[in-house]
Amino acid sequence: MRPRIKTYIQGLDEQMDGGVPKGHVVLMSGMPGTMKSSVAFNILWNNAKEEDKKGLYVSLEQGRESLIEHMGGLGMPHDEVEDQLNIVDMGYLRMNMDTSAEQQSWMKIFKMYAENLHVSNEYELLVADSLPVLELLAEVGNRRAELFHFFGWLRELGVTTFLIAEASEDRNVVHDEDFLADGIIRLRKEQQGYDVSRQIVIDKMRSTKHNTGYFTLMHDGKNFQITRVIGD
Ligand SMILES: Nc1ncnc2c1ncn2[C@@H]1O[C@H](COP(=O)(O)OP(=O)(O)OP(=O)(O)O)[C@@H](O)[C@H]1O
Ligand SMILES: [Mg+2]
Repeated sequence: MRPRIKTYIQGLDEQMDGGVPKGHVVLMSGMPGTMKSSVAFNILWNNAKEEDKKGLYVSLEQGRESLIEHMGGLGMPHDEVEDQLNIVDMGYLRMNMDTSAEQQSWMKIFKMYAENLHVSNEYELLVADSLPVLELLAEVGNRRAELFHFFGWLRELGVTTFLIAEASEDRNVVHDEDFLADGIIRLRKEQQGYDVSRQIVIDKMRSTKHNTGYFTLMHDGKNFQITRVIGD
């Protein structure tokens, strides 16, 4: 069996044969504020901390400092995993590209950076936060064809990738990336009276026997954990 990447969301890995198959391209989808970035960061942070696995987090929307502050507040200080976990944002990429690259599209710059770092640092886990921004930067013509190439490029890179995507609440809306991805982990908020609870569901995970139910997602100040949705 293929090696697995643990999500380090307590209770979730055993619901999917121990984790995400190595090499998969997984969408982390959800509406604004559903903790997509936090959950993806949690995977990289814990893999770095517990297993010394290297990761690259490319934040295209949120600035690096803001991301580090937010994750520190969730009990994941970057300085504890500085050697294993690289975090870059648009400003960083802009500063670190040479002038000849300035003429290139942002998608090319993203790929160039990810590829170069992979050669020098051999990271195993990649997060692109987020896919819609990457698309904007790519100035996509034929969206499906461009995405097809991008997913192929990610698989060739040989890393396990988490792509943050903005899902619509309308379950009838299906995007090209939903078919292209090897897995989809979806986050949502569910209103129960005055309370809103966070939920997580594995919509798809190729080569994996996984639970398809909704789980309540909680954070205890340090770790994420799930419990079965009552009445589900
Ligand atoms: N210290 C904390 N403990 C628990 N929850 C927090 C804490 N700080 C922020 N949050 C919650 O995390 C949410 C934001 O998480 P995150 O940035 O990961 O979401 P997101 O889905 O990536 O959002 P966006 O769509 O803006 O990118 C906030 O809306 C807030 O509810
Ligand atoms: Mg985010």
